[in-house]
Amino acid sequence: MAKIGVVIPAAGQGKRMGVGCNKQFLTLMGHPILARVIKLFEDSEYVSEIVIVGAVNDIPVIQELVQSYKFDKVLPICIGGVQRQDSVRAGVQALSTTIQRVVVHDGARPLLTLREFNRFMEETEKFSAAIMGIPLKDTVKRIDTSGKVLETPPREFLRAVQTPQIFDRGILAEAHHQAASVGYYGTDDATLLEWIGYPVHIVEGSQENIKVTTPDDLWLAERILAMRDE
Ligand code: C5P
Repeated sequence: MAKIGVVIPAAGQGKRMGVGCNKQFLTLMGHPILARVIKLFEDSEYVSEIVIVGAVNDIPVIQELVQSYKFDKVLPICIGGVQRQDSVRAGVQALSTTIQRVVVHDGARPLLTLREFNRFMEETEKFSAAIMGIPLKDTVKRIDTSGKVLETPPREFLRAVQTPQIFDRGILAEAHHQAASVGYYGTDDATLLEWIGYPVHIVEGSQENIKVTTPDDLWLAERILAMRDE
């Protein structure tokens, strides 16, 4: 089996949370969001090592968190960049040279379960680039800058994309390298592979695998965890 490393981008400022600190340090049912994310990969037999990418000012707090939870797959914390894509690129470069496949998972998605992650790993084994996504509940419209509706894409061919995303390391590094060299930015890593013409597959994600972005997400995440009876 390929040796797998996980990159956790956690260098965002969390401005939409409005709490004046990195949202990944907020506590959810007794544990910081980031600690919940790291624990999932510590517990997974698929994962050999973990790189956390943090903002330069957050490095001491992240180091302390890793030590206090005794996470032992975590490499020295990597310093993030201006955009998420810059942070992921730095994280991929920091992985050991023996790592052949890379999982990228947002530091702000603490509700992914080990069972869902294991299913993701099984279903994506045959693909060199694969991501999690869920069908849309709402109809989506493409609009122009004035708010005029241009078209309504058929919903059965649309997915809301999440992390984890998994890639063969070589192709992920190449896509990041090419994007960085011309200043191309995508909102996830899969976009960069699509941009260089590489096929990306999608497997079914989970409605509960939300990204904690705004205060109402925090409320929802707490309700979901309470239902899981943690
Ligand atoms: O901003 P957004 O919620 O899309 O960020 C997704 C993930 O990427 C978060 O876990 C955030 O900390 C991370 N990120 C990063 N470096 C940045 C911006 C965001 O690692 N410059």
